[in-house]
Amino acid sequence: MMTLRHMPPAAGLAALAVLLASALLGTSSCSYDNEQELFAGELSSCDSVSVTYRGTIQPLLAQHCLRCHGPTRTEGGVVVTAHHDVQTLGRTGQLLGVIQHKPGYPAMPDDEPRLSDCDINKVKIWVRAGMPDN
Ligand code: HEC
Repeated sequence: MMTLRHMPPAAGLAALAVLLASALLGTSSCSYDNEQELFAGELSSCDSVSVTYRGTIQPLLAQHCLRCHGPTRTEGGVVVTAHHDVQTLGRTGQLLGVIQHKPGYPAMPDDEPRLSDCDINKVKIWVRAGMPDN
């Protein structure tokens, strides 16, 4: 659900993703000052620049998901153990659906609060980057 409380960070995340995308494509570095202004808020401490599967996504899933979707438990028939498991969930939209608490998806983690905006943003960036095994 989009509540007012969530709107500004969501807008910031979208803008950040766009800027990251253009940075990755090697476009101008002149926008640097703008980025500084745009993200001087709560996201400034969120390192979403160096997102990798092994360095970012896997540890995040290990901390918040693996206990129910790993070697010992496979709730809902879902596992997030291997890269290709997570990639499949990313392709179907389930991964972003559940962690963003989108309508139509069971909210995950099941028994914990929603992940931080920073963590959700990292997963979004990784999915948009094509879910590399890096
Ligand atoms: C405490 C246990 C628990 C934790 C922690 C947990 N899940 Fe789940 N998960 C479940 C259960 C139970 C279901 C089945 C719920 C349902 O279908 O309503 C489920 C279902 C799912 C599904 C299937 C959704 C669908 O569309 O049917 C996905 C994807 C998923 N979890 C991802 C995650 C991710 C990603 C995390 C970590 C951010 C996570 N889960 C953390 C218990 C957990």
